[in-house]
Amino acid sequence: MTDLFHDLAPLLWNAFGIAAVFLQEIISTYPALSPPTLTPAHSIRVCNALALLQCVACHPDTRMLLIKAYIPLYLYPILRTTNMSAPYEFLRLASLGVIGALVKANTKEVFTFLLSSEIIPLCLLNMEIGRETTKTIATFIVEKIMSDEVGLDYVCATAERYFAVGRVLDIVLESLEKQPSPRLLKIIIPCYARLSSNPSRAGLALTSNLPDNFGDVTFIDGLREDPTTWNWVKQLLDNARANQARSVIGRGGGGGIDDNVAPSSE
Ligand code: TRP
Repeated sequence: MTDLFHDLAPLLWNAFGIAAVFLQEIISTYPALSPPTLTPAHSIRVCNALALLQCVACHPDTRMLLIKAYIPLYLYPILRTTNMSAPYEFLRLASLGVIGALVKANTKEVFTFLLSSEIIPLCLLNMEIGRETTKTIATFIVEKIMSDEVGLDYVCATAERYFAVGRVLDIVLESLEKQPSPRLLKIIIPCYARLSSNPSRAGLALTSNLPDNFGDVTFIDGLREDPTTWNWVKQLLDNARANQARSVIGRGGGGGIDDNVAPSSE
């Protein structure tokens, strides 16, 4: 949509009263969040408004205006819902779409805003309970945030945070065994790689708790096809080995990651 109507975003945002209408649409769902009484028609209407808001979030001229008006914060109560029926799932998906559009810009201001408003636990919740597309967007947001140093430091700042992220990444990875999703896999691998690169205890903890998949030759071989993913795999396994060496020096012993799965250094 943003490509088709490049100037739709500023046009929308600057139209009189539109920001208030966006807000009104989002807030109209609140009474239906708990107890859950959201109808499919209501959900569709708000999702349509959120699709337009996503357009505003994508555009470089309007992105920061949206943030300065704190509009993303009004999506948080929606992201906190856990009702599994379709109207709620779509609403969460559309809300994550807006946040996903914001993080695509890779700007520090966006990351700082989202981190300080505690988007990470909300993404983790959606990664855990969402269907495939919802999981993918929530994971994409976490991946984008962790691709920035500020975001990675934030996640690795306390053991609770680090373990919360690691636990949910493991859950998502495990869910892929039942329901494979190459696009989700492509996002989850860099998340592990980024965590493993952290020099704090987070990196060490990751190495000693790396899911079995990363010791499985067939799983690793399946990742060779996509060069970007393969690069992340190599980084992850290199970091894991380096962390392991550090922990062996620190502890004077330890288990190992299988050398069979070591990526060749081409
Ligand atoms: N207030 C919590 C914290 O700062 C927010 C939080 C909960 C969190 N779970 C998290 C942050 C997981 C990062 C990762 O730790």
